[in-house]
Amino acid sequence: MKHLSPTLVKLIKLLNDGKFHSGASLGEALNISRNAIWKHINQLIKYEVDIESAQSKGYCLKQPLILLDKKIIKKNIHYTGKFYPEKIEILGSIASTNDYLKTNAAHNVDEIAICLAEYQTAGRGRFGRSWYCPFGANINLSCRWSVSKDVSKLSGLSLVVALAVMEALKEYQFKNNLAIKWPNDILWQGKKLAGILVEMSAESHGATQIIIGIGLNVNMPASAKTAIDCHWESLEQIMRSYQDRNKIAGLLINSLLHHLQQFEEEGTFNFTRQWKQHDYLLDKKLVLKLGKNNAEGIARGINAEGHLLLQQADDKITAYSAGEASLHL
Ligand code: BTN
Repeated sequence: MKHLSPTLVKLIKLLNDGKFHSGASLGEALNISRNAIWKHINQLIKYEVDIESAQSKGYCLKQPLILLDKKIIKKNIHYTGKFYPEKIEILGSIASTNDYLKTNAAHNVDEIAICLAEYQTAGRGRFGRSWYCPFGANINLSCRWSVSKDVSKLSGLSLVVALAVMEALKEYQFKNNLAIKWPNDILWQGKKLAGILVEMSAESHGATQIIIGIGLNVNMPASAKTAIDCHWESLEQIMRSYQDRNKIAGLLINSLLHHLQQFEEEGTFNFTRQWKQHDYLLDKKLVLKLGKNNAEGIARGINAEGHLLLQQADDKITAYSAGEASLHL
């Protein structure tokens, strides 16, 4: 369901009081049959929304579900520069927001398109992994930018996006214990809070199409633990209260647009100091998976191209542009 049906949105609003509602009372409030209510509830269950149903009492939402709202998101975007997006689209359920923007938005050079989805049926992570998020829990955001630069000039972008996410979290007053694990995982106390998937492709007129995908764990319920195979955290678990996705999404878009503009104008020059401050791997012993081969060494920071500097057995420092780093314990 690319866009959520107005009935489903109303149903979620009714259930948001956390109380039990009978199928009959919901049907009456929405002017539809009990059977239609049951179908909508089933849809939500398929989306992995935590709904309790009891024969005598009806249905109850186990945790609040405040949907994304374009108007509220826009209130938190103060950026007015040249990258202000033509379009910010809020989707219901989609395969992947990155894929959606690849095929669906108009693209003139320097035009930015942004979309967010409540649910992704085939959300993608790095290294061909899947990215999991129950309906309405987190932020799944993609941004498309066609830039008149060659791919070779864009290698530091991944880290710039990671800094943009950090900045947005800071503005949300969430500052401590955050780090960036090269190239662009956002960690809180070593556990994954956000992931970034940047995909680039050369376009015919010398430009590059960039799709930036950001997945940020906001209100991920503890029940998601079994569905994810890495150590993760969500803002809700850390702060022990339900968090405002609309505000965070607005701050995120705001920060992303500022960072993209600065990157376009100055390259990575003014970002390198910040990378150093947040570098989770700095001076740690690690293994870097490179396809079939591994490289081992001590991380010695990141260069201006955003490449990881690894000091290896012969003390020589080599810059790596890609790979998956894990700490050598
Ligand atoms: C990773 O850490 O492996 C990157 C995860 C990126 C997930 C986001 S969610 C929005 C966008 N759409 C996708 O399919 N993936 C990215």
